[in-house]
Amino acid sequence: MSDLVQRARAAMQHAWAPYSQFHVGAALEAQDGTVYVGCNVESASYGLTICAERMALGAAVVGGARKLTRIVVTTDVDPPAAPCGACRQLLAEFGLDLEVRAVGRTTEKRWTLAALLPDAFTKESLDR
Ligand code: THU
Repeated sequence: MSDLVQRARAAMQHAWAPYSQFHVGAALEAQDGTVYVGCNVESASYGLTICAERMALGAAVVGGARKLTRIVVTTDVDPPAAPCGACRQLLAEFGLDLEVRAVGRTTEKRWTLAALLPDAFTKESLDR
């Protein structure tokens, strides 16, 4: 198992998901090799739930990372769960060339963020 998969699976152990019982882990690698992790955190006020990917992105940003290269998202389902739309959009803030790998119990899928978010709205979209 690759290091990033191990890190995401370790983070997944800490998921707080008492409502969905759906545990997600994420490991996001920056260009300097630093890895930032996240897990999903649910709330009794359901809409406040935060996904694992956005937790990892927040950790990366507060850690000073700006150039991100790869993210691994782990779940216990097959086919593996891809990042939700909100996470795709927030990750796009730091570049569409991010490599995205979703790892389920026994299968995996890979994309670029550009493939997961075609015709993305980005900071360039704001240019006038
Ligand atoms: N979840 C994530 O952590 N990442 C995603 O990309 C999709 C969904 C979480 C949110 C919630 O805690 C649970 O999975 C079920 O939707």
